[in-house]
Amino acid sequence: MQAVVVLCVCTLVFTIGCDHAEAPQDVVVSEYPVPSGFPPISTPRDNLITDAKISLGRLLFYDAQLSRDGDLSCSSCHQQARAFSDTISVSRGTQSEIGLRNAPPIINAAYSRSWFWDGRARSLEEQIIGALTSPIEMASDTALIAERLSQSPNYRNAFTQAFGTSPSARDAVRAIATFCRVLLSGNSRFDRYSRGDSSALSDAEKRGMALFFSARTHCSECHGGVFFSDFDFHSIGIHSHYYDRGRYYVTGNEHDIGKFKTPTLRNIALTAPYMNDGTLTTLDQVLQHYNSGGKPFINKDPRIRPLGLTSAELDDLRAFLHTLTDSMFITNPILAKP
Ligand code: HEC
Ligand code: HEC
Repeated sequence: MQAVVVLCVCTLVFTIGCDHAEAPQDVVVSEYPVPSGFPPISTPRDNLITDAKISLGRLLFYDAQLSRDGDLSCSSCHQQARAFSDTISVSRGTQSEIGLRNAPPIINAAYSRSWFWDGRARSLEEQIIGALTSPIEMASDTALIAERLSQSPNYRNAFTQAFGTSPSARDAVRAIATFCRVLLSGNSRFDRYSRGDSSALSDAEKRGMALFFSARTHCSECHGGVFFSDFDFHSIGIHSHYYDRGRYYVTGNEHDIGKFKTPTLRNIALTAPYMNDGTLTTLDQVLQHYNSGGKPFINKDPRIRPLGLTSAELDDLRAFLHTLTDSMFITNPILAKP
């Protein structure tokens, strides 16, 4: 699975370790099999997708040794049954440090243009360094990770297979990034309907779909395309004062206060609570929010305004959102704890 076909002109910078920046990396297009209708996955040129990296990445994803106190793995906050998200509004880090933000699901993350709610990571590798070292997540450091992994014959063997070297934090990050890249979800009932199976959706779900893609709701203008996200940043007026300033932290532009990356809606029925701070607990609350037009806020997108949907229409819209659940994704044994 090493084969790589096309070289993109795009480059990205990624940082490994906290202290030194890599030279800009070429991005290459992988031949890894993807769901029908999905574009091929791009990866940094020096981190091609291989089976050995996927299996090492999977081991690491489920291993609490990666956190400083040995109490949290990636899967503590990104659980497969929840489409790789969790059930609490804001995540608790190692030693129960409380963060500000809701753990997003990891779904088709290979295709994002930036990672985290504010888009501050420019590659999955950079994002994962953040998770491993953040005091409100795993609070670890690269030396500790390398030292712990080197003590395990199992890991020494898996690193040799994947990278031909002994365990290092840098390669651990690459392997975890590879595992995250193959968390692909594209087999919901909606997908089956899109591929021509008109019996895959009920009449209510089809009515909800028509509303979702209509100029009445504007939903698909932000949550559009096969990934149900424009990967752009918007404020939808969840608050009229944003304690967490979101995209502003990256750009320093005050027009970006309160803006967050549009989340995918795939598997949305499984990923409550909702929004960057988990402030809405049910899909009904989310739909009420949109129907009311949200709170007044200076940077709120003009498309977020009262929609005037009836309760029957809201039921249809909710029914449509439920068709985005991909039960194979959440039960696929090759993505589960090894
Ligand atoms: C303590 C809970 C917690 C742990 C442990 C954790 N995460 Fe996260 N993860 C989060 C939260 C919260 C965010 C959003 C943070 C933000 O936007 O600032 C996030 C964001 C992400 C994202 C970005 C998704 C996107 O679409 O932008 C990915 C990918 C991810 N985590 C993968 C991982 C991996 C891999 C690990 C293990 C190395 C890990 N996480 C460990 C809570 C956690
Ligand atoms: C202007 C762009 C935009 C439009 C239009 C829009 N959304 Fe959103 N949506 C977002 C953003 C951005 C977020 C995250 C906001 C936050 O956390 O502050 C979001 C969050 C959500 C969430 C919660 C996702 C999660 O993982 O927490 C759901 C569900 C949702 N939108 C559904 C809809 C529906 C249904 C419509 C149409 C009625 C719609 N959206 C219209 C941009 C938009």
